[in-house]
Amino acid sequence: MTAGAGSEPHSGAPPQADAGAPPQADSGAPPQADASAPPHASAPPHGSAPPHGSAPPHGGAPPQAGAPPHSGAARPGAAPEVAAALPDVETLAAALDAADYVVDPGLATALFLAVRLPQPVLLEGEPGVGKTEAAKALARALDTPLVRLQCYEGIDAAEALYEWNYPRQLLAIRMAEARDERLAETDLFTRDYLLRRPLLAALEHPGPRPAVLLIDELDRADDDFEAFTFELLAESAVTIPELGTVRATHPPIVVLTSNRTRDLHDALKRRCLYHWIDYPSPDRAAEIVRRRVPDSALPLTLDATAAVARMRGLDLEKPPGIAETVDWVAALTLLGVPRLDALPTDVAATTLGSVLKSRDDLELVRGRGLGWLTGAPHA
Ligand SMILES: Nc1ncnc2c1ncn2[C@@H]1O[C@H](COP(=O)(O)OP(=O)(O)OP(=O)(O)O)[C@@H](O)[C@H]1O
Ligand SMILES: [Mg+2]
Repeated sequence: MTAGAGSEPHSGAPPQADAGAPPQADSGAPPQADASAPPHASAPPHGSAPPHGSAPPHGGAPPQAGAPPHSGAARPGAAPEVAAALPDVETLAAALDAADYVVDPGLATALFLAVRLPQPVLLEGEPGVGKTEAAKALARALDTPLVRLQCYEGIDAAEALYEWNYPRQLLAIRMAEARDERLAETDLFTRDYLLRRPLLAALEHPGPRPAVLLIDELDRADDDFEAFTFELLAESAVTIPELGTVRATHPPIVVLTSNRTRDLHDALKRRCLYHWIDYPSPDRAAEIVRRRVPDSALPLTLDATAAVARMRGLDLEKPPGIAETVDWVAALTLLGVPRLDALPTDVAATTLGSVLKSRDDLELVRGRGLGWLTGAPHA
């Protein structure tokens, strides 16, 4: 069963509602009947049918029925202890700052709402503006685990949610055989044999505070996976046919990121709070760089962040982000450069490779000359 991005949450009894029923053996004999051909030997490439056919294909283990998003039901709000720990935006901004993430009021507010409403937040922005780091810093600020799901083309639910531990099941079968015993399927499809992937790990996080679930670069995954993720988030629950429904006791705080390689679906966007992270101002960028390269000279960080901002004004193939600025300042600091205008031309030329990642971009910037880079009035 494939979840569709625009589909209604399951209001009727979904196929997996018979959670108490024994696992299906729809792919043929049960694992122990075929112990000589190990289940995992023929199994996964991901997405291929597992021995008993129960690992979720795309959307194969969709969430249980429940209150649909925006159904008019009152929002639950964050747990009281989370609300007490984060009474306002300023408190969160200070906590993020203490976690070494420099945040502007807009992003601080978006993250605050993600925690307190709660509502998933979708962060978009150019590469290297701090989307991933925002989620990491939020977890540090809340002193809670970060569970990260890195998306990529072809990712499927088995990799994101759970898989059965076939080698372990096989071992159990062999050990039982050695004892002249025979295991029932129900003995093999228990929690002991479950490999929890990030989405399930986040749902099952025992607290006391919810985990931060980072679904990174969702635009790289395909449509089906996006729809599957969307429904799972809508319900904060998932049904594992052999085990029943896993419902989060502490629904995770969800941060999604996208680099806009494709448009995400409206259904997903509607559910999320959307926030665009812009490049920081040179001053704020300098503050970020100083956190990452504490022994850098202040004039150098100010010069470098201004130079990077200037470079972004050119028609570059890959405009540099903050990470590249940090790398550049780290390189210049290591080479003992106190300010950009004290930079020998050859050093400038070499270290620009920290910031620019293609020959064309390097030539474009080098062509402007060092004076342009440092903002010298005559340049
Ligand atoms: N506001 C910030 N405060 C502190 N560090 C930051 C901030 N923004 C970015 N950084 C630094 O820049 C680096 C790049 O950030 P990050 O990886 O989060 O960018 P991104 O937007 O996820 O990029 P990509 O789109 O390439 O994944 C981080 O390792 C972090 O050190
Ligand atoms: Mg990232």
